[in-house]
Formats: sequence, C-alpha cells, structure tokens
Amino acid sequence: MAMSQFQRITTLLGGLAVVLFAIAASGQTAPPRPRTPVVTWNIPNVDELPDNEEGRLARYGRSLLIATYAHIGPNVSDPAIRYAGNNLACANCHLDGGLKKFGLLLVGAYADYPAYSSRTGEVATIEDRINNCMMRSMNGRALPKDSRQLAALSTFLKVLSTGINKDADVIGHGAGSMPLLTRAADPDRGRHVYVQHCAECHGENGGGIREGNASDALGYLVPPLWGADSFNDGAGMYRLITIANFVHSNMPNGVNWADPLLSETDAWDVAAYVVSQSRPPKADLAADFPDRLKKPVDTPYGPYADHFSEAQHKYGPFQPILAEDRQLASEQQTAK
Ligand code: HEC
Ligand code: HEC
Repeated sequence: MAMSQFQRITTLLGGLAVVLFAIAASGQTAPPRPRTPVVTWNIPNVDELPDNEEGRLARYGRSLLIATYAHIGPNVSDPAIRYAGNNLACANCHLDGGLKKFGLLLVGAYADYPAYSSRTGEVATIEDRINNCMMRSMNGRALPKDSRQLAALSTFLKVLSTGINKDADVIGHGAGSMPLLTRAADPDRGRHVYVQHCAECHGENGGGIREGNASDALGYLVPPLWGADSFNDGAGMYRLITIANFVHSNMPNGVNWADPLLSETDAWDVAAYVVSQSRPPKADLAADFPDRLKKPVDTPYGPYADHFSEAQHKYGPFQPILAEDRQLASEQQTAK
C-alpha cells in the first residue's frame, strides 16, 4: 500500500502490460480492469476476536506494534529478544496503531503481499516487509521466521486487511502526495520551521522525550527524529518525499491530512533539515534496488541509473531526475 508514487506507476504499468498482452493474445479488446477504490472499511476490533490462537496472536501483534520497545526493544531484560535497535514503536510512524489515513496506514497492506520488491529485486512476503522496517526504521535485526513476534505482527496486519482484496486501492495509504518543489528543499530555512513548530516536542537536539529513564524499556512520549536512537539512513522515513508528506499530513502531532497546519513549502524545508542531521548508518546500502531505474527518485544514496548527484537525489529538485529516468527507461524498452 505505502508504495511510492513511482512504484505505484510501475505497478500500474506492469498491470497494463499484462492486460495488453492478454488482449493481443486473445485478439479481443477488453478494457483494463479498474482498481476498486476503498474509502471506508469495517475491520474487527481485535479485543472482540475469540480467545483462540489467532485472536491471541492478533492482540499480541497490536501490542507489539504500539509498544515495540517494551517487547523487543534494546532495553528489554532478555538480550536474546532485543531485536529492535532503537526504542521507537512501529506506531510512532504507523499512526493510531496503523489506522490513520496518510499516517502510513496499514489497513489493506497485508492483502498486497507477496509482492515484487524493487528494493531487493525479489518477491517479498509480508514477513519480509515487516523485517524491512525492523532493519531500517527500527535500526535492528530481522525477527526470526519462526518467531511468535513475527507471527503476531503478521496476524494483526491480516486482521487490518479483513474484507480488502489485492486489487483494492485503499484511499489514505502512504503519507500523501504534495506537488514536488521546483527548487531544492532548504535545510537552513527548515531549521527556522523546526524551532517554531517541532522543537517544543521533539527537542532542539531532535532527541525527543523519554518515558521514564533512558535505561527503561518504556519508549518515548515524543520519539526522536535523529541521533543514535532514531531510524537509520536506509529507512523509508529518511527519504525526503516520504518524510515531507508525512510531516505535512500529520505534524505537529494530531494534525489531520484534511486540515494541515504547515504550508507545503515549510513541510519540504523542515523535512530537509531533519534528514540533514546524523543518524545510525545501515550497512550495504549500495546493494539496494538492483534495478536502478526502479530506485525511488529521493533515495539519498547511490548508485543511480542517472547522472545526478546524491545531494540532488536527497534534496531535489526532482523533476529533472524524473525526466532523465523516464528517458532512460524508454531507451531500455526500445533496446529490448
Ligand atoms: C521511522 C518510521 C517507521 C517505523 C518506526 C516503522 N515503519 Fe513501517 N514503514 C515506514 C515507511 C516510511 C513505510 C513506507 C516505506 C516505503 O515507502 O518504502 C513503511 C512501510 C511498512 C509496511 C508496508 C506497508 C505497505 O502498504 O506495503 C509494513 C507492513 C510496515 N511498514 C510495518 C512496520 C512494522 C511492523 C514496524 C515495527 C516493527 C514498522 N513498520 C516500523 C516507516 C516506519
Ligand atoms: C505536540 C508535539 C509534537 C509536535 C509539535 C511535533 N511532533 Fe512529530 N511527533 C510527535 C509524537 C507524539 C509522535 C509519535 C506519534 C505516535 O506515536 O502516535 C511524532 C512523530 C513524528 C515522526 C515519526 C516518528 C519518528 O520518530 O521519526 C516524525 C518524522 C515527526 N514527528 C516529525 C515532526 C516534525 C518535522 C515536526 C514539526 C513540523 C513535528 N514532528 C512536530 C509529537 C510532535
């Protein structure tokens, strides 16, 4: 669901190619099957699921999502299950426990897997996708395939997709899609926006506000935006388009996408300021996105198919990059 626009377009084109092939093969003309838009949903409350294995797993999964730090964080007492490398919760980003439109909604996500992942160039299961956030957003390690934690998260996500089929276009997935800026986003201007609109909660130093002491497994009242306990530089939130839209649709915390507080320009610039700060490094980033034309335009680390710098991929402007990538993709098609 939370595919970047670029991935969505590729997926749509992929679907179209299949349809066109089917038409050519059958010699008939049939309109492409439209994706059903889903605007509202009716998902069971996990508290009302029966007291059987699936109900228990779903409830544990919700708890893992909301209080990740307390179950598998770096400060839990059993070192063997310190899978997360920071004290964040999944729900610090997947807001309202994964139920908030344009707050990295998780409703319907389960239905989309297994799915091709441009990041690895292979088919990913929902478990792979969860572990992607474990290794990047949570700066940790993968949950073992046979672990109860992974089964629980996956079961909870399955419940959040009740009644939603694979072709559904769930309205509210992702973080939003503001028009791109026509200049590079400006971290210096963003610093002023940060001081005015973010620092009172996230702190001048971006460290957030802990619950309890720093050694407790109680997570944060307000999560950090950079520094050692934040997401790493391979995370989706480290990409400018993602974080700018997330902030515009949701921050200051409590804002709704339908009534944003920040101007679009302020959201782009404050996002640029946040991604300019230091955070944990992820190893082997160059191996991501083996098909470089499928690399999201705002991936701040190379190598790239195009000739643009890491700085331009990090801050924009993105239009010239998108134009060159489209050109390269069409040349690749013609060469085939
Ligand atoms: C720092 C913010 C952050 C945290 C923390 C985080 N995620 Fe994510 N997650 C994202 C972003 C951003 C995306 C979309 C990624 C992209 O566009 O590449 C995403 C995508 C996903 C998806 C795919 C959704 C879809 O529609 O395909 C799943 C599933 C997921 N996350 C689960 C989790 C779980 C489970 C945790 C906790 C273990 C977690 N995430 C923690 C930011 C976060
Ligand atoms: C009123 C306090 C408050 C203000 C002001 C605020 N935030 Fe947040 N922010 C939060 C809280 C709380 C969360 C976690 C939400 C949750 O867990 O439900 C959060 C989450 C986030 C996240 C995702 C989690 C993470 O750790 O990365 C980002 C990014 C973010 N805020 C950026 C900003 C930016 C940029 C601003 C200024 C434009 C801002 N916030 C203003 C309270 C605030």
